[in-house]
Amino acid sequence: MPLHILDHPLAAHALTHLRDRTTKPATFRTLCHHVAVLLALEATRDLALRETAIDTPLERTRGLVLARPLVVVPILRAGLGMVESIVSLFPDVSVGYIGLERDHTTAVARSYYCKLPPLAGTRVLLVDPMLATGGSAVQALDVITQTGGGELALLNIVASPEGVRAVENAYPHIPIFTCALDRELDQRKYILPGLGDFGDRLYGT
Ligand code: PRP
Ligand code: URA
Repeated sequence: MPLHILDHPLAAHALTHLRDRTTKPATFRTLCHHVAVLLALEATRDLALRETAIDTPLERTRGLVLARPLVVVPILRAGLGMVESIVSLFPDVSVGYIGLERDHTTAVARSYYCKLPPLAGTRVLLVDPMLATGGSAVQALDVITQTGGGELALLNIVASPEGVRAVENAYPHIPIFTCALDRELDQRKYILPGLGDFGDRLYGT
């Protein structure tokens, strides 16, 4: 089941206000944080654990800790809005960066930056709020898989059917976690109903 649509009342509430054109950047950032936390919790439900022995103040017992390193990779710039939320949940996470920018006329993404930590043996969360044509996500997944893999998951706040198809065609086994599967893309390849340009709304540009 590669497509997971988040089913949580707080996600629905936050998404409605993210979509609202009157929501200002300060509130937009807070809502983005809430949704990113919920998505990250959902996408990490199956993280591997290992047993360890610890001493409570009263006796020795056994407990479980995360077994594998976690990596989060935001697609710049809008993906940055989701990073701190994941760092707050997983303080030991490593962070990689992939910079991609869609051309305004062709909607094809151009790569301008890439810096990734070692990925072998890790769980990698690729985060980008918007999955529109899927071009940016597929380019980023290409870079990550060519760099050395890790077990991947893609986290988006809003996805389009075309974007999901593009990712599923290129990477059928990579799970996609999103808050909403919207209706379609417009002629400029923006998601409808969508929420507009996420990066512009996040950063007030
Ligand atoms: C947006 C968004 C995704 C991309 C999605 O970024 O954050 O990265 O578009 O579109 P796609 O699925 O059609 O590739 P944009 O290129 O506008 O850059 P920004 O994050 O710097 O605003
Ligand atoms: N990027 C955005 O920020 N929004 C869209 O609807 C499509 C691409």
